[in-house]
Amino acid sequence: MTSLTHRLANKVGIITASGSGMGRAGAILFASEGARVLVVDANKDAADKTVEMIRASGGQAQVSAGDLCDEAYSRDIVEEAVKHFGRLDFVWNHVGHPGPAGLEEVSTSDLDLALNLNLRSVLFTTAAALPVLRKGGGGNILFTASTSGLEGSKYSPVYSAAKFGVIGMARSLAKAHAAENIRVNVICPGATNTPMLRTFVRRPGQEGDLPGDIEKLVTQRSSLSPMGRAAEPVEIARAALFLVSDDASYVTGVALAVDGGATA
Ligand SMILES: NC(=O)c1ccc[n+]([C@@H]2O[C@H](COP(=O)([O-])OP(=O)(O)OC[C@H]3O[C@@H](n4cnc5c(N)ncnc54)[C@H](O)[C@@H]3O)[C@@H](O)[C@H]2O)c1
Repeated sequence: MTSLTHRLANKVGIITASGSGMGRAGAILFASEGARVLVVDANKDAADKTVEMIRASGGQAQVSAGDLCDEAYSRDIVEEAVKHFGRLDFVWNHVGHPGPAGLEEVSTSDLDLALNLNLRSVLFTTAAALPVLRKGGGGNILFTASTSGLEGSKYSPVYSAAKFGVIGMARSLAKAHAAENIRVNVICPGATNTPMLRTFVRRPGQEGDLPGDIEKLVTQRSSLSPMGRAAEPVEIARAALFLVSDDASYVTGVALAVDGGATA
């Protein structure tokens, strides 16, 4: 049951990579604020689970399972959302990939995968969404970059290059589409407690590397943040909700760090 006091009442949106982590937390939070959400993920079981959680709380959501490395699929999810829910108001391009560690051993396939998921796919989804948002009188595009899109990353140069690219694209689109009532922003999470964080902390050469226990590594890495802990996915989702909602009606072209002070 939604009312006009819900911050996303009557809105329809797409959240990619919402079968896990921050994307799932966002889908659940946005749906609880009245949005109808297309839950997009390559892992169908995981996407089904997100939708089940939303429906169990009385929210509305639909699964779309597919591989966002595929250009056609990255575009088609826009039409799928419109077909299912009748309109489109926002897209949260959350999908990404850690990419290879280091640069000297990089292979074309590793590079392609990282650039496909961090940059290419989100560009195609956005390209498909813009005319639909324009036709509907406006809307919101939100990208997920990272603190590695704001400052260099010692251990993940390809990832950092792609995320800087995401911010450059978003800022350009913000200027280009502001007059059409389309806002474009970026959320830049610091270390966040999801499966992907486990990939990052495994990288060779990490400060304070510990052998063996991955959870010890996560705790140790997280304790380096000024707040002494990693973010929980819902803490990123809350900031994303602000950017997508009318609370941020005069905010566009922003890359918002949600990092417990890591880049302060
Ligand atoms: N976790 C962190 O510490 C952290 C920090 C900064 C930024 N990020 C960014 O957040 C985003 C996702 O991170 P998370 O930690 O929420 O993720 P996660 O590891 O919890 O989940 C990633 C999801 O992406 C899906 N996915 C992977 N490849 C896909 C593909 N080809 N097509 C469709 N779906 C695919 C997976 O099935 C999974 O459900 C990425 O853009 C990442 O760069 C993460």
